[in-house]
Amino acid sequence: MSLFARIAGTGSYLPPKRLTNQDLVDQLAAKGLESSDEWIVERTGIRARHFVDDGVHASDLAFEASRRCLAAAGKRVSDVDLIIVATSTPDMVFPSTASILQHKLSLAALSDGDDEGGAGGAAFDVQAVCSGFIYAISVANAMIQTGAATTALVVGSEVFSRLLDFNDRGTCVLFGDGAGAVLLEACEHDGSGPGILATDLHADGKYCDILCVPGTVANGRILGDPLLKMDGQAVFKLAVGVLEKTARAVLEKAGKTEADVDWLVPHQANIRIMTSTAKKLKIPIDRVVVTVDQHGNTSAASIPLALDHGVRAGDVLPGQTVLMEGVGGGFTWGSALVRM
Ligand SMILES: CC(C)(COP(=O)(O)OP(=O)(O)OC[C@H]1O[C@@H](n2cnc3c(N)ncnc32)[C@H](O)[C@@H]1OP(=O)(O)O)[C@@H](O)C(=O)NCCC(=O)NCCS
Repeated sequence: MSLFARIAGTGSYLPPKRLTNQDLVDQLAAKGLESSDEWIVERTGIRARHFVDDGVHASDLAFEASRRCLAAAGKRVSDVDLIIVATSTPDMVFPSTASILQHKLSLAALSDGDDEGGAGGAAFDVQAVCSGFIYAISVANAMIQTGAATTALVVGSEVFSRLLDFNDRGTCVLFGDGAGAVLLEACEHDGSGPGILATDLHADGKYCDILCVPGTVANGRILGDPLLKMDGQAVFKLAVGVLEKTARAVLEKAGKTEADVDWLVPHQANIRIMTSTAKKLKIPIDRVVVTVDQHGNTSAASIPLALDHGVRAGDVLPGQTVLMEGVGGGFTWGSALVRM
């Protein structure tokens, strides 16, 4: 018998404001920049994305996704002894968005009449950009397997619209805001039950310039440029290669093959990257959960958002094997193989 971290529930949240490609094309046109719905759909597969209103933070989206996730798992926040939030758009420099989320969940529990609240467990953020959720779920899995935690809330939450340069037509059409969450719970079995079967994480910092937000805060001022910069073609090329490699690595670690995968839940950056990865792995496209068309790239939120979408649609079912994989700034990449 071994200890596994099983997914006991999922949840997600998108802010209500939805912008179609045409909405962005019109905004760009007002600045004298040309784009079109056809260009965006053909190059990326994206048709719409959601943006937060002013004053809404990553912890607010994380809160909504977490409440739905806890309800799906039948858990209270006082059951949770670990919260990890993957985000590159934290509410503030510190404290962590995870600590702020814990407080918001705890206040809501208290006002619901749960007088235990939910404070006291560990809470911290993970920063691995679009691979953030895979990093976070891998850390939570390791903590559960070593007995350091028993019930972990793992959230990806982003307000990426805050980082976008709306004068750069090559990047501002690609990203969106949102949050997704999973509740991981320790369980013991012989390996045939539910849980995370293997994880695989990588980074190569020599590529940090091809996708970055180079600004920072110092001495009361913003230093450098606080808006997203990307070499799209370099990112595309690198992403396609590493996603295939990490998928094969995680399958090998778990003693599985591509044929064992019921669902591929990849980072939702670009439909061409997703179909190319699926093709290399010989996974049919109808076994790939696709939300990029409606959400754009929500960075660390994209994988748990897509997973929750697949679960709530009744597609991803208990007992099925799900391969999640992410890639993003750093450069970072990785994957997690899970039996639901
Ligand atoms: C960004 C991306 C869609 C651009 O597609 P591409 O086929 O590489 O296009 P290019 O960058 O070569 O640009 C082709 C032309 O379209 C133009 N263009 C860029 N954005 C445009 C837009 N929104 N509308 C119309 N034209 C646009 C470019 O300026 C360029 O024009 P030029 O030939 O006159 O210079 C693509 O490179 C990509 O998806 N990369 C990966 C991005 C990603 O996934 N990032 C997140 C990873 S976590």
